[in-house]
Amino acid sequence: MSRTLAPGIQLQVVSAAEFAAAAADLVQAVVQRKPDAVVGFPTGDTPLPMYHELLRRQQLGAINLSSLRAVMLDDYLGATGDDPVSFHNWLKRTFFDPASIDGWRLWRVPTDPEGIEAACRTYEQGLAERGGVDLQLLGLGLNGHIGFNEPGTSPDSRTHVVHLTPSTTTANAAYWDEAENVPVYGVTMGIGTILEARSIGLLVNGRRKAEILRATLLGPISPEVPASFLRRAQHVQVVADEDAAALLA
Ligand code: GLP
Repeated sequence: MSRTLAPGIQLQVVSAAEFAAAAADLVQAVVQRKPDAVVGFPTGDTPLPMYHELLRRQQLGAINLSSLRAVMLDDYLGATGDDPVSFHNWLKRTFFDPASIDGWRLWRVPTDPEGIEAACRTYEQGLAERGGVDLQLLGLGLNGHIGFNEPGTSPDSRTHVVHLTPSTTTANAAYWDEAENVPVYGVTMGIGTILEARSIGLLVNGRRKAEILRATLLGPISPEVPASFLRRAQHVQVVADEDAAALLA
């Protein structure tokens, strides 16, 4: 089922079984049109099956991912080098290495606390030098965050350091053995940065995201739900499974 919610925003509701393929279709379409497309990749449980599906398609010869240019959405401040918690290393392990996307094709969100503000500006310049982002994929935080743009973030924000909310650190605690080791600062593309992408894919699955997806798509456009600003963008495809879309009727 596909439905237009606003001039620039299209909702596609699929079964849980179809979710990974529908998300992978967004990447396949952009890469077929432009093999060296600039694609922004998120981390998290939501996109994981999409990465597996893209790798499966590449193995079958249906898609070639090795020429795309990848950019990152967010990471933890201080997660440098081969720190296993870094989103960069997660993406490298999960997707970039198995997809044969060379390191030089990846533009990393800065994570070194030293000189971080200048590095955030350099990150933005790097996006511009690549001609901007063709497709930015996003997950949706339980509190409505996109990237690490927590509630209260300005829609004009650029790449910046964030003090993560308790909701986010609690959600992320599952990934660490010791709760006190969960980083409390992140670095993220700003909402303004995200909105400049030529197209955006918001991926949302599971019943626990149904309330926040409803607020994102049907509630007020407000900094309280950062993802609601996506309704100001021109080309947004929301891919939701039936559980996540349960409250949208
Ligand atoms: C994390 C990340 C986001 C991600 C979101 C949802 O905190 N910073 O980039 O999209 O939360 O994660 P998940 O897909 O695991 O629910």
